[in-house]
Amino acid sequence: MSIIKNVENEITNIIQNLGYDIKKVNMQPSGRPDLGEFQINDAFSLAKENHCNPREIAEKIIHELEKDSRFQNLNIAGAGFINLSFSEDFYLETLNTLYKDIKSNIDEEPKKKIIIDYGGANVAKILHVGHLRSANIGEALKRLARLLGAEVIGDVHLGDEGLQSGMVISEMKERYPELICFKEGYNGEEFELPITTEDLKELYPVASMKAKENEEKMEEAGEITYQIQKNHLGYSTLWNKIKDLSLIEVKKIYNDLNTSFELWEGELDSFQYIKDMLEELKQKNLLEISEGATVMDIKEASDKKEMPPIILVKSNGGYIYETTDLATIYGREKRFSPDEIWYVVDNRQEFHFEQVFRAAKKSQMVKEDTKLEFIGFGTMNGPDGKPFKTRDGGVMTLSSLISLVNDETRKRLNPMITEEQEKERISKMIAISALKYADFLPYRSTDYVFEPSKFSDLEGKTGPYLLYSTIRMNSLLKKAKIEGYETYKIQKLKNETDKEILQILLTLPKVLKKSYDVKSLNEIAEFLYKLTSVYNKFYSENHILTSKDEELKTTWLALTEVVYNTNLLLLNVLGISVPEKM
Ligand code: ARG
Repeated sequence: MSIIKNVENEITNIIQNLGYDIKKVNMQPSGRPDLGEFQINDAFSLAKENHCNPREIAEKIIHELEKDSRFQNLNIAGAGFINLSFSEDFYLETLNTLYKDIKSNIDEEPKKKIIIDYGGANVAKILHVGHLRSANIGEALKRLARLLGAEVIGDVHLGDEGLQSGMVISEMKERYPELICFKEGYNGEEFELPITTEDLKELYPVASMKAKENEEKMEEAGEITYQIQKNHLGYSTLWNKIKDLSLIEVKKIYNDLNTSFELWEGELDSFQYIKDMLEELKQKNLLEISEGATVMDIKEASDKKEMPPIILVKSNGGYIYETTDLATIYGREKRFSPDEIWYVVDNRQEFHFEQVFRAAKKSQMVKEDTKLEFIGFGTMNGPDGKPFKTRDGGVMTLSSLISLVNDETRKRLNPMITEEQEKERISKMIAISALKYADFLPYRSTDYVFEPSKFSDLEGKTGPYLLYSTIRMNSLLKKAKIEGYETYKIQKLKNETDKEILQILLTLPKVLKKSYDVKSLNEIAEFLYKLTSVYNKFYSENHILTSKDEELKTTWLALTEVVYNTNLLLLNVLGISVPEKM
């Protein structure tokens, strides 16, 4: 159990022994550091329940806490805020515990099996900045949930179904009519795809433009899409080849972003469940025909807004986004029976998921207590406050965004790094830290402005600042090793900034819990900045390695190692890797 939770539990017991009914006391960093390091505000709610004066209760609590030498400077502020500080021994003990194992300072969540649906790259289309946030947030939430003890399966849920398949194949037909997959009676023979990754980049935009300008083309695209849904051998074989080609680029980018998936499934993989699913819904009398389409009513008695039925089969027999997402839940339940499924998707898709979740619950496709959670995110905007665009106003692809930031971080690279490959590798790592950290700073559902130059800076609240500082901690520890230090004895504090660092470290379990509860990384991002900047203040105030006081020196080295390891742990949760130098 974490140190802070342990103390909270002890105080909770003390209050319960005083005869009050309290589940768990909440100790938080003080809003008035002049009065104490931490504060407890529970006297107010207790007073309300017990119809008495909060100060009276606070006094009783303090009276008990005074018997414990760990608590110091106990006082009551205002009408009943309890302020307290901890003794030096308590902080030394804290440092000792963290030094042995920083993970001992983490509180696990109840064990759960969670599927996270994130990434969502679309086949034959390019990854654009909108896919960045899903990859960043989804991957970080996956790592956070694992750190807190969950079993997690990440599924990229590729967009591999829909009109884009028909458009692209129709364009292929025009360009390569001789391909055997287009021949009548095609029986699955092997053939080579006549296009490259580069060709693919212009294939979809051209195909989509043609279809939009030409009704006949659009109709053909619709027909081919429908044929793929019904598993037309020639079209499906070609589409699968295009999918493989398209995934080469997609995987490269996810790899750059330190994002990886356990499942590389997509919408098309849900097709194997559609028939059974529809049959079950029919058995349960949940389906209706409306204007030729098969729909399901998902209204609820408490609805205040309009809730149209969910469409599952179009009047022409085709399936849509709702069908594949519902069938995906059906399949996930059958194969994994998860406790929770999280969807890390753009805010604009919230309504789609509301419909799908209602249908899944109403049909009892998932257990009553299975949590289906929509984890929406806002838009990343450019410096003009509008969705990030290229200089000439085009859609910014994810790989051009990464290069753009890379140009910025390369300018700031240490000139001692001269080897070209090394330069490229390190500046890319820093660029990813800049992009990711900027993405995590705001609460996930708010839009934010990304300024490449500002977020690439080595100063300020940026990824590069965190990396630079973390590397510096490591080089200090390496120097200490050279001096002959193996382990550090924890003996004494100066009780200034060193203590402040420990106060911050004590709150980590609360930060992790908050992030996990609201499924946003902003608290962790803020914590990293706070810890790092206070450590840097400490670093500049004290000459750690040349300190004459050996007791302070070894304690400070232990503290440095703890901060370093905490940074590594949290940066890893955020999917940010730390280069050895920069
Ligand atoms: N491919 C979709 C898009 O690019 C995102 C997929 C989200 N996940 C899902 N299960 N529908 O917008």
